[in-house]
Amino acid sequence: MEMNSANVEAVVKQVLESMLDKKIPASGSQPAASQAIPKTAHVAMLTSLEHYDIKEFPIPEVGDGDILVKVEGCGICGTDAHEFKKDPFGLIPVALGHEGTGEIVKMGKNVKTDSAGKPLKVGDKVVTCMIFKDDPDIEMFDLNKKNVGGADVYGLLPDDDIHLNGWFSDYILIREGSSVFNVSDLDLDSRILIEPCAVLVHAVERAKTTGILRFNSRVVVQGCGPIGLICIAVLRTLGIENIVAVDGNQQRLDFAKRMGADKSVNFMEYKGIEALSGAVKDAFGGHLADFAFQCTGSPAAHANIYKFIRNGGGLCELGFFINGGDATINPHFDLCSKEINLVGSWVYTLRDYATTFDFLKRAQAIGLPMKELITHRFPLEEINEAHKTNLAQKGLKIAIVNK
Ligand SMILES: NC(=O)c1ccc[n+]([C@@H]2O[C@H](COP(=O)([O-])OP(=O)(O)OC[C@H]3O[C@@H](n4cnc5c(N)ncnc54)[C@H](O)[C@@H]3O)[C@@H](O)[C@H]2O)c1
Ligand SMILES: [Zn+2]
Repeated sequence: MEMNSANVEAVVKQVLESMLDKKIPASGSQPAASQAIPKTAHVAMLTSLEHYDIKEFPIPEVGDGDILVKVEGCGICGTDAHEFKKDPFGLIPVALGHEGTGEIVKMGKNVKTDSAGKPLKVGDKVVTCMIFKDDPDIEMFDLNKKNVGGADVYGLLPDDDIHLNGWFSDYILIREGSSVFNVSDLDLDSRILIEPCAVLVHAVERAKTTGILRFNSRVVVQGCGPIGLICIAVLRTLGIENIVAVDGNQQRLDFAKRMGADKSVNFMEYKGIEALSGAVKDAFGGHLADFAFQCTGSPAAHANIYKFIRNGGGLCELGFFINGGDATINPHFDLCSKEINLVGSWVYTLRDYATTFDFLKRAQAIGLPMKELITHRFPLEEINEAHKTNLAQKGLKIAIVNK
């Protein structure tokens, strides 16, 4: 027989079926996952402080505007860590996990496109977004005025009859009207990193409003946890190369260099702010920074960073997602007389979310080691251990990855 692509596929299918002793669907039909939707889903419910139980719930009817997603993985966020330790939103019992992604296995007849207008079909890979609904400029700040649960933030919803409300699970039901994005063109690790990356896309957008960031700007990134490291990556994808990373952890500083920092300064090696700011200046060849990103939750670090910035320079403070206490600065020396352009940054907008998908492709294209940010991967059943590893700060990004 003539070997065109269709019968090559048929022969391969036949051979594979005989090897695996099972039927493989023809290409163009629904993906494997959609063919075997189980009756029940497993959901990691935080049932008490520092304790998850894996609960089994029936998979509910998928309404005309709903999307059933088979979860592939979900990163553990600082917010999950706060919930795990203290339940500040008073949500227990709660299905946590908002940095999740998976494959659509079933959707209602009214679902045609994602929140950006991109077509959606069974088999597509999707993420949800903390910022909800169809106002692209709504920010977390606006959401906070409502209650978190009312905002369709999957992974922070109060428990209900459906239960499939968080991404620490094997199935999640995304209800009509929620923000959902088709990210089929990103690999699993990139999709897990979308949410924290959106924080930095937003921070850099905030920084750009000062008009100071340019290709050849000298930029300090203080704090090289996941947030600072991703900050360096976003700057690199913008073409900014003159970056000095500051931290006290040498391993993280070494990673910052691989992520694109030109030089690094270990603050543990310097006594006093004079010596430290001198080291930053030396790293820039005798200049202070044009712009600085503050990516630690340390008030002392906030106070220090002004000393690294030149007169007329800029600062983006993004290190305090939650209240970390007061910092002491000298308003005359640090701000007024230096004419510092200061911006704060908190979470992101829906628009930043969409920008983040492109950022991740650019980061990969220029060879940044983004995937290495995910240092630990745990199966769903080991979610308690995963959270403890996160709290012990043993790695960078800890993720639940389903089998
Ligand atoms: N703006 C937002 O929307 C937003 C979103 C997420 C996280 N955050 C905040 O960003 C901060 C960083 O997050 P992360 O996940 O990277 O945290 P992390 O704790 O993993 O990293 C912080 C890093 O700062 C370093 N550090 C501490 N004190 C320092 C100092 N004095 N000088 C220099 N480096 C110092 C630590 O060694 C560590 O590597 C957190 O405080 C978090 O609350 C903000
Ligand atoms: Zn998060």
